[in-house]
Amino acid sequence: EQAEKDGYAHYMEKEIHEQPRALRNTMTGRIDETGQKVIFPNLQLSSRSVKQIEKIYIVACGTAYHAGLIGKHVIESLAQIPVEVDVASEFRYRRPLFAKNTLTIAVSQSGETADTLAAMREAKRNGSAVLAITNVVGSSIAREADDVITTNAGPEIAVASTKAYTSQLIAFYLWGMYLAQQKATMAPQEIAALLGKLKELPEQVAEILTHAKQLRHFAESIKDERQLFFIGRGIDFAVSMEGSLKLKEISYIHSEAYAAGELKHGTLALIEEGTRVIALSTQDALHEKMISNITEVKARGANVLGITHEDHLDLHRTVDDVCLIPKTDALLSPVLSVIPLQLIAYYTSVVLGNDVDRPRNLAKSVTVE
Ligand code: G6P
Repeated sequence: EQAEKDGYAHYMEKEIHEQPRALRNTMTGRIDETGQKVIFPNLQLSSRSVKQIEKIYIVACGTAYHAGLIGKHVIESLAQIPVEVDVASEFRYRRPLFAKNTLTIAVSQSGETADTLAAMREAKRNGSAVLAITNVVGSSIAREADDVITTNAGPEIAVASTKAYTSQLIAFYLWGMYLAQQKATMAPQEIAALLGKLKELPEQVAEILTHAKQLRHFAESIKDERQLFFIGRGIDFAVSMEGSLKLKEISYIHSEAYAAGELKHGTLALIEEGTRVIALSTQDALHEKMISNITEVKARGANVLGITHEDHLDLHRTVDDVCLIPKTDALLSPVLSVIPLQLIAYYTSVVLGNDVDRPRNLAKSVTVE
């Protein structure tokens, strides 16, 4: 087992560090040789039926659900198709409405999650085409779907998912651009420019990982907390949810993610002197709003770590600590902003002496209801 960990202390650490390679593998074979277009050579859905898609459901559980929340932002903004994201165990019992030309996307690292499989069968029964985004070729979900985008991230062993999540995000960017090509909702130059940024991501993730150990100090500082809050707006809120889940899963510290603008409708009551808050601000259009939300929690005594990129260095004036990530296109930022959150969860679990790769009460793949 030690050999399989490649010199890393845990599978989770290894898998965090494998992300640059995993992301490249998800892109491989899906961008044409000119670098200007997305291609899916084995797609069964005809180009005509892709053009006709009017509505998309995304169904998934856990971390894959959080990737789906980003997928919604991506598809809606690139391809202008309305998307609803559902936790699979809710979807299968809520009698969703299936209009003609609905596509259901099932996202699952293992391809074996019982609720996701059942949700996808429900969609099929209702006449929806099903696309699977999965890491396991030949899994049940891959076999039953009409089409599959494999993430090719390599085996993920740690229960807390890391490289599967970021590679699912890459799959969504590629799929979003593919839809945009078919629907002509983006100009070819826009697609080429976004692909250019997409290809920079593996290197940018590697750059963040060279400073990984710095977050160990932060982990030391939160290890005795009873609760933490993650806040963000828009796509940053979706990433906050994943950061909060990671921390809960392996550190057992309670945390919640909130849409920053929603704080004043309740959660602000929980902020007191010294409450630890992690605030994401990667979206230029929302940065001023984030500053005012952070000011609100600071005024109640919160201690805030801000995660942002170099254009928003002014954040230093408002927060206690800043973690800088490289700048990319706003839509692509989750691939970078989630890395510090994965590292915070990882190191917190390590300093607490927990079983990082096999957290209590959890399984890697949940094949029962
Ligand atoms: C379990 C794992 C999570 C995972 C979820 C969905 O709860 O512990 O890490 O996100 O299942 O798994 P899937 O294989 O469908 O992505």
